[in-house]
Amino acid sequence: MSNREFGVGILGIGSYLPEKIMSNNDLEKMVETSDEWIVKRTGISERRILDKDTPAFEMGVEAANKALADAGIAAEDIDMVIVATVSPDYVYPQTACLIQGKIGAKKAAAFDLNAACSGFVYAMTVAEQFIANGLYKYILVVGCEGISRTVDWEDRNTCILFGDAAGAAVLGPVEKGYGILSTKLGADGDLDRVVTLPCFFTDEKDLNLRVHENKNVIWMDGGEVFKFAVKIMAQATEEVIEKAQLEKDDIEMIFPHQANTRIIDGALKRLGISDKKIQPIIQKYGNISSASIPVALDEALKLGKIKKGDNLVFVGFGGGLTWASAVIKWGK
Ligand code: ACO
Repeated sequence: MSNREFGVGILGIGSYLPEKIMSNNDLEKMVETSDEWIVKRTGISERRILDKDTPAFEMGVEAANKALADAGIAAEDIDMVIVATVSPDYVYPQTACLIQGKIGAKKAAAFDLNAACSGFVYAMTVAEQFIANGLYKYILVVGCEGISRTVDWEDRNTCILFGDAAGAAVLGPVEKGYGILSTKLGADGDLDRVVTLPCFFTDEKDLNLRVHENKNVIWMDGGEVFKFAVKIMAQATEEVIEKAQLEKDDIEMIFPHQANTRIIDGALKRLGISDKKIQPIIQKYGNISSASIPVALDEALKLGKIKKGDNLVFVGFGGGLTWASAVIKWGK
């Protein structure tokens, strides 16, 4: 345990899901697939799709305002805004700057961070450092994904998987002994080609190496990502539990990145942790990338499933490839 007189924890949480629902039956009309295949292979029944005229950052604004209200912190008191995203409206202005401006966090520094679906835990870990060393007091961390805009709607291998959403958390000082107990970040750039989303200016020769002819969309080797994800989610969870000097039985809830129910089941089986300890959201939202963990956390809190002192694990994996995990002793 640290010598600090305070912990660093989550003071407030908020999320936003677009209203428009796209069901598996809707997808059956667009690509050669079936509700039965999608449910059996992924666990997804429907996903939310952001209206085409709405910029993605506006979901982040909605989630951020809810998180600020939940924390009882004014936007003017936020010192930094970090947005985890792989689907920004612009390379710049960064989604973090757009959100900072819209919510009126006038004194806050702001930047985007891309660690794909591990992004929320990466951003939370970065935020923790600034608060722990006393440089900043309140940091807004947002996972904001208009990811439906980055998929090829003619590619059944990927378009069935993703949905749009945002989730936000206000981090700040909490009682000593509570908050973030341990974190672990990782990456393996040797697996860079397993899941890719090129920029519009990516070199043509490089793009020609890619399997997919439609260039500026997600491409992935689903099987490779799957195998990696099961292994790394179990390993990263074990590492942070040990680092926090806890046992698996001490964990009340686990929030894995939700990309596929079979990945979650595989990781939980390796860990010997019951699936009753997760808050399932993938059925109704699909893979919402960096928004997945805060949205699930928000839902679990609203259902009254978390109380002060509960030990929670957050664990994500994503393109890069990257992974990230954390143990939090809930401090509210
Ligand atoms: N409907 C019907 N059939 C399909 C579909 C579909 N939507 N998609 C693929 N198939 C077919 C394939 O073409 C293949 O057919 P074939 O045997 O004739 O070649 C068959 O189904 C099996 O395909 P697999 O790819 O082996 O199916 P798998 O069981 O591996 O499931 C899936 C595919 C769902 C993509 C899975 O591998 C997965 O979830 N992988 C992880 C993806 C992930 O987590 N990505 C996260 C990273 S994204 C990021 O970081 C932003």
